[in-house]
Amino acid sequence: MHYIAKETRYDTMKYNRCGKWGLKLPAVSLGLWHNFGGIDTLENGREILHRAFDLGITHFDLANNYGPPPGSAEENFGKILKQDFRAYRDELIISSKAGYDMWPGPYGEWGSRKYLLASLDQSLKRMGLEYVDIFYSHRPDPDTPLEETMMALDRAVRSGKALYVGISNYPAEMAKEASQILKELGTPCLIHQPKYSMFVRWVEDELLDVLEEEGIGCIPFSPLAQGLLTNKYLHGISEGSRAAREVFLKKADVDSAHDKIVKLNEIAMQRGQSLAQMALAWVLKDKRITSVLIGASSVGQINDNVESLKKVEFSDEELKLIEGIIN
Ligand SMILES: NC(=O)c1ccc[n+]([C@@H]2O[C@H](COP(=O)([O-])OP(=O)(O)OC[C@H]3O[C@@H](n4cnc5c(N)ncnc54)[C@H](OP(=O)(O)O)[C@@H]3O)[C@@H](O)[C@H]2O)c1
Repeated sequence: MHYIAKETRYDTMKYNRCGKWGLKLPAVSLGLWHNFGGIDTLENGREILHRAFDLGITHFDLANNYGPPPGSAEENFGKILKQDFRAYRDELIISSKAGYDMWPGPYGEWGSRKYLLASLDQSLKRMGLEYVDIFYSHRPDPDTPLEETMMALDRAVRSGKALYVGISNYPAEMAKEASQILKELGTPCLIHQPKYSMFVRWVEDELLDVLEEEGIGCIPFSPLAQGLLTNKYLHGISEGSRAAREVFLKKADVDSAHDKIVKLNEIAMQRGQSLAQMALAWVLKDKRITSVLIGASSVGQINDNVESLKKVEFSDEELKLIEGIIN
């Protein structure tokens, strides 16, 4: 099948400015952490990417280690890009990251210049790209001076291999320091990628204020708490779901969240939304959030999640009820 993107792809998606910068990201972005690896069906991933782009999702997020096996999500994405998206490269924002364990020895993880720049070269090769739009330090490194990690990001941009840089999983204080170093280097930080959902709220303490002050965008990952905040686990754990695989999401996580999920689902139904739609709208209600970074294992999930944009407002009463459940 030859893919041609729908002409209507920009009709309904909302695009938000990334912090104070010129780049806009779709309110819903798609990550390829799961469902695009060597163990997954390439054709399913391909259909998901087609549908996403047809709905205006212009941003696809990867990392060196996505798979499994590590690297295979970038390889598969590279194949699909070559086959279907070659004509649309300038309509896409493609990100990758380095930080987690990728190859043996002392240079295969964390935040050294040696690791980050070698990893970026590997990612570009796997995806068949000349540059990524955003290159991230995937996690802070307690043993490498922050200057070294930020200098490596700066180098990535100066060498033409990345257009922008970002940081992920950095606590507030460190994010501020990183931003200041990057500013001095002349390659300002575009975006921060933290974990944030109704169930994981650490960013509300300080990080979002720091990002606003520094003019940095925010793209929360796992806004659906890996599927907990959807109708997926309302009636148990279905075969093939992430929790059934017991790797990143455990059956025990489902058990402990179950009562909250049932109550939140009732509010979502009263709003005329699915639970996934309400969970995404809840994250997007804060104007400091640029985009929600979802995952999906089917085209149906993409459809469901993008529909969240039809209703992102909450009444005070709804917010109070939700707070009573998640707090
Ligand atoms: N920077 C970091 O350290 C970091 C860490 C984690 C993730 N990320 C990024 O964030 C992206 C998203 O993470 P995530 O996959 O955990 O996000 P998520 O959106 O919280 O969870 C996605 C999973 O939820 C389920 N789901 C999604 N929509 C659904 C719907 N409408 N109805 C029912 N179930 C639905 C699917 O589970 P099933 O597969 O079980 O169907 C899907 O795989 C990743 O791909 C990656 O790009 C970054």
